[in-house]
Amino acid sequence: MEITNVSEYEAIAKEKLPKMVYDYYASGAEDQWTLKENRNAFSRILFRPRVLVDVSNIDVTTSVLGFKISMPIMIAPTAMLKMAHPEGECATARAASAAGTIMTLSSWGTSSVEEVAATGPGIRFFQLYVFKDRNVVTQLVRRAERSGFKAIALTVDTPRLGRRESDIKNRFVLPPHLTLKNFEGLDLGQMERTADSGLASYVASQVDRSLNWKDVKWLQTITQLPILVKGVLTAEDAKIAIQAGAAGIIVSNHGARQLDYVPATITALEEVVQAVRGQIPVFVDGGVRRGTDVFKALALGATGVFIGRPVVFSLAADGEAGVRKVLQMLRDEFELTMVLSGCRTLKEITRHHIKTEWDPPRLAPSQGKDMEHLFHERHCMFVRVRPKAASN
Ligand code: GLV
Repeated sequence: MEITNVSEYEAIAKEKLPKMVYDYYASGAEDQWTLKENRNAFSRILFRPRVLVDVSNIDVTTSVLGFKISMPIMIAPTAMLKMAHPEGECATARAASAAGTIMTLSSWGTSSVEEVAATGPGIRFFQLYVFKDRNVVTQLVRRAERSGFKAIALTVDTPRLGRRESDIKNRFVLPPHLTLKNFEGLDLGQMERTADSGLASYVASQVDRSLNWKDVKWLQTITQLPILVKGVLTAEDAKIAIQAGAAGIIVSNHGARQLDYVPATITALEEVVQAVRGQIPVFVDGGVRRGTDVFKALALGATGVFIGRPVVFSLAADGEAGVRKVLQMLRDEFELTMVLSGCRTLKEITRHHIKTEWDPPRLAPSQGKDMEHLFHERHCMFVRVRPKAASN
């Protein structure tokens, strides 16, 4: 059967993969409220398309940290991809390169930075978990640098692993034929089977819970690479990230796998964008399944989006070809969204092209003026001035 959208890969992956593996990729934390909300929140944002714009030429290319890419859609770090497909991270890297976009390799890849680099040219970021043993971190960052990775995406929302109940029920553990390849030579490549989630225990024993903003500065003493702080959800932290020298922020709730009942990332995005005031780029991940989602994120101020599960599931279903197809489908849908909303370049996508539930009412209601007033006081940046005639 022909695949016509990104979400269709999930059912195929579910059929193909062992339950323990599918559940690991699919689940969120605890009640999985945020997992559902990451998707639902996109569906509550509507378009305000403009018509009769000459859309015969559309340009979806963009630039991220100075690197020109084919579209504002990049690959998020997801762990242990050889559980999904024998070619795992390498197939994913090849698909990203073929699509002209960026792949982020997880620290917990089942392929190493060197192996991914050996797949050929491509712009790649390295996602970093800071381990208690800082020598391990330093070595890993150096290896990523030497392997040509262009940025570090520092995950900041995981001092402990979120509680994913299916992993506990399944006694999740990395299958014995695989290792966390980046850590293999450091004696940290194996994961012990435990009475609950093997990954949660691994994190508890290896990841540095004392990690704090000073370490973002420390990281800059060991690498020249730009640092993207991944896992920010508030204006407060966005401002600190800038002071700490971040080159960018990824608004992320870790695919809803960490703290449940945080807002959908698309809901948190604008708060961060407002706080950052254009000083550094802001990206978002979480729940992106459609080209319309990409457009909404850009309209709210994101420079680009990262996709996680669609990559994992398409990789499981069809290897490199699956990931290529996901990237192509999202690109096509995004381009179509631009055409149908009257935007020819990414710059032309504005806040006026969408309508969110936190916007003030636009038209008529007699109290509209008061509402708008109130809104202005709270969010002065995003008030739209209505034409005089309509405001009375
Ligand atoms: C890894 O980062 C995970 O969330 O399982």
